[in-house]
Amino acid sequence: MSSTNHPLPMNQSEKTELPERIPQHVAIIMDGNGRWAISRGLPRLAGHRAGTENLRRIIEACIEFKIRYLTIYAFSTENWGRPQEEVQGLMRILEDVIDREIQELHDQGVKLRHIGRLDRLDPRLQEKVLQAIEFTKDNNRLTLNVAFNYGGRDEIVCAIQHMLEDGVEAEDVSDELVSQYLFTAGVPDPDIIIRTSGELRGSNFLIWQGAYCEWIFTPTYWPDFDRTELLSALEEFSQRERRYGKIAENQGDLPQHAS
Ligand code: IPE
Ligand code: IPE
Ligand code: MG
Repeated sequence: MSSTNHPLPMNQSEKTELPERIPQHVAIIMDGNGRWAISRGLPRLAGHRAGTENLRRIIEACIEFKIRYLTIYAFSTENWGRPQEEVQGLMRILEDVIDREIQELHDQGVKLRHIGRLDRLDPRLQEKVLQAIEFTKDNNRLTLNVAFNYGGRDEIVCAIQHMLEDGVEAEDVSDELVSQYLFTAGVPDPDIIIRTSGELRGSNFLIWQGAYCEWIFTPTYWPDFDRTELLSALEEFSQRERRYGKIAENQGDLPQHAS
């Protein structure tokens, strides 16, 4: 599907002044669903459902802002340690979202990818995820990477195992080669990682790919993180200077101090 014929999901782009530099790849740790629910006297799963509703709005905003890649952390390798009822509920939500949303995502030009391991999921759910990926594979407006049963360390372990299986020689191992063995192969590194809910940690998310990303933390719980907050994050990113270990461009020709 071509990316040119889709109407904008919201008619807001004329009104919105976008920041100068829009990141190519935004990643989000969608945290705080449980606390959002508890603060309203609701069960945690209601928070996860509200989080899913919000995801739909943020996907639309990403399309509007012409972000090319969105990676969302939906279920970590550590989240298996939650009560079984919550884990089962999260699996059901993934299934419902695919059933309900895949046609609309497709119509909007979204290409779905999965990062993480599918093998621990129910075979029926695995099949559903694979079908959704196949269904949207030719879209190119926004690539949505869903990190589900994803862990950054697990990803690196998996990459090392595959390199060994392929007989890669030690001297051929490079940054680029490792990147090609990760679940995100072919996807550029994230420019920014946003974490909602006030927690100031990475929780095993994109630990290789995020080496030089800009981190943005907000106290807002994920279900309340809206288009305006996304726009503020993009504005903040636009003002950050990325130096990659070098020095600021205008500091290279300062007069030398006599010693
Ligand atoms: C993030 O929200 C979603 C998942 C981890 C699946 P949480 O469920 O972690 O919400 P809090 O952090 O307990 O509020
Ligand atoms: C990270 O959130 C995982 C997801 C958002 C899917 P957690 O709530 O699981 O992380 P911790 O426990 O605060 O580190
Ligand atoms: Mg949490």
